[in-house]
Amino acid sequence: MQKKARFAIFASGSGSNAEAIIKWAKESTLAEVVCVICNKRGAKVHERARNHQIESLYLPKTSLMTKTEYENGLLLKLKERGVDWVCLAGYMIILSPHFLTHFPKRVINIHPSLLPFFPGKDGYGDAFRARVEKSGCTIHFVDEGIDTGTIIAQKEIPLYPEDTLEQFKERGLAIENAFYPEVLEQLFAKNNEDT
Ligand code: GRF
Repeated sequence: MQKKARFAIFASGSGSNAEAIIKWAKESTLAEVVCVICNKRGAKVHERARNHQIESLYLPKTSLMTKTEYENGLLLKLKERGVDWVCLAGYMIILSPHFLTHFPKRVINIHPSLLPFFPGKDGYGDAFRARVEKSGCTIHFVDEGIDTGTIIAQKEIPLYPEDTLEQFKERGLAIENAFYPEVLEQLFAKNNEDT
């Protein structure tokens, strides 16, 4: 039997995607969530993780730290826990090549637009203001650029003329929460076939 992939989830906020991944991994034979790492003390993701008995670490990047020092702290926690994959789920810090070289093609992100359209911090807001008929979400490997890594899968999210931004985001997040675990399951099933 294949060894399960050992994941850490990095998040900064509510953690609806983190929770969806945690729930999926509980049932999956392919992967397990080892810990959540979050740079915000009061973020809801901590509570969501602990409700599922998943360790949730608060690791802020303070102004006294360089990015490399901060990332070395992350890398140490991951090493101690034998983590071999990282899933970003609303994590608001850009990882540098220093971090990424330790996890080549092993850091995955979900972005709330159909990349390459609307990269950056506000995928839903930017698509909404552009009044596109549909937007979507993208799951991709993370590289040193901002939302530029190889695309793994995309899913459309409709934007209706009567939508408020909140309604559009709410619909989008529900789609993301179903899609992220689905794509991870396929990715790990395929990785197991290939090895
Ligand atoms: C999601 O829209 C995700 O695509 C983006 O940040 C948001 C995180 O939401 N990267 P949540 O914290 O998972 O609820």
